[in-house]
Amino acid sequence: MFKRASGTKDILPQETAQWQRLEKISHQIFSLYNYHEIRTPLIEEESLFDRSLGKSTEIVRKQMFLIKKGRDSYCLRPEGTASVVRAYIENSLDKKSGFIKLYYIGPMFRAERPQRGRLRQFHHIGCEVIGSGEPEVDIEIIALADNLLSLFSVKGYRIQVNSLGCLEDKKKFIDLLRQQLKPKANKLCDDCRVRFKDNVLRVLDCKNETCREIIRTLDIQAQVSALGTQSGHLCLECKDHFERVCKGLDALRLDYKVNPYLVRGLDYYTRTVFEVTHPALGAQDAIGAGGRYDNLVEELGGPDTAAMGFAFGMERLILALDAPAEAQNKELIFIVSLGEEAKKEALLLLSQLRKEGLACDTDYENKSLKGAMRLANDSGAKRILIIGEDELKKEIVTLKDMRSGGQKEVKRQDLLAELKRGS
Ligand code: HAM
Repeated sequence: MFKRASGTKDILPQETAQWQRLEKISHQIFSLYNYHEIRTPLIEEESLFDRSLGKSTEIVRKQMFLIKKGRDSYCLRPEGTASVVRAYIENSLDKKSGFIKLYYIGPMFRAERPQRGRLRQFHHIGCEVIGSGEPEVDIEIIALADNLLSLFSVKGYRIQVNSLGCLEDKKKFIDLLRQQLKPKANKLCDDCRVRFKDNVLRVLDCKNETCREIIRTLDIQAQVSALGTQSGHLCLECKDHFERVCKGLDALRLDYKVNPYLVRGLDYYTRTVFEVTHPALGAQDAIGAGGRYDNLVEELGGPDTAAMGFAFGMERLILALDAPAEAQNKELIFIVSLGEEAKKEALLLLSQLRKEGLACDTDYENKSLKGAMRLANDSGAKRILIIGEDELKKEIVTLKDMRSGGQKEVKRQDLLAELKRGS
């Protein structure tokens, strides 16, 4: 027997109602905010992610699914931002409007060690706004993420916000952090010892208690606490930018916290970053995250254009939702037919009802009345149409309402109107 690949999931029929619900809300809300859907390929050139996420990030170092084809080297996309920026540049979307709001829904792939909420194939609902560095964009994006979460009916989530500053600020901060961590580097956890060399900012959001204690004792603490609030390491422009973002979020009465330790695992971020966590999720508690990447478009060969976006992990959203989605086929009509002639009539009726937009199904197996009724019941149908010899002769059908249990005869010529009235 074959098994699915480790870290992948079959999304079964009883689960897809929830997926469709999240997708439907996303399409509606993104459209309300004037975002346009973009669909990029699942495979990209491997080097796209070296350049955008950074060679030293964990995703690029350890988690890429690589595909070699002759001399070409592709990978399954680990995230959507780099692909969207690539598509934006390649299709000259900047020439068409300069400013564009895009969204996407689809699978991403990372060869991580699978655990609850951490898969190798998972799905993003994400968006990218390319063409403006104004804080109003940051405010809209964070408020949009919040709005989506409430419409998804996710409760109890927390939004944390920080500013990493511009590239120069980031660099200064990284140097300072490395300098201060150096004497204590050998006490860090295994992962952080690697991060110390390759991606030192990530030490700041390590969950290991020893690392947390080391961070608490650093002189840098004063600087970190001041990040984006008072002086900190931010230049005047970045400080002002972040203050405007926070003021805008306050004006919208959005519930968020500034977390000076919040850094992101991808190199492209600058200025505002944010993360949404949910306490019910355990170790993998981020249900979504995003931020500005004001240098990425130029870095990938496009114009010097600021941008920002976020992505939710759909599997984690679903884990955070405690209520199952409503079952599908709420209004399904099930046709039970007995005998050859009735079967023909049933097929005609099925086709007619479907053309009229009424969901219906039948028993294809010529079961007995009892068997067919059981099947109808299992299908979750709200109404059952029974056609037997008697009904054929009288040109009627027997209509059974599964909610009330009531049953009545309906003339064939009145059936459509009757079914439409009841749906
Ligand atoms: P990310 O933080 O790597 O950001 O992923 C966003 C979300 O995807 C996470 O918060 C999490 O919910 C989900 N996620 C990530 N990895 C996994 C996994 N292995 N299994 C299940 N869910 C996962 C990005 O990818 C950025 N592209 C977001 C962004 C868009 N920034 C700007 N624009």
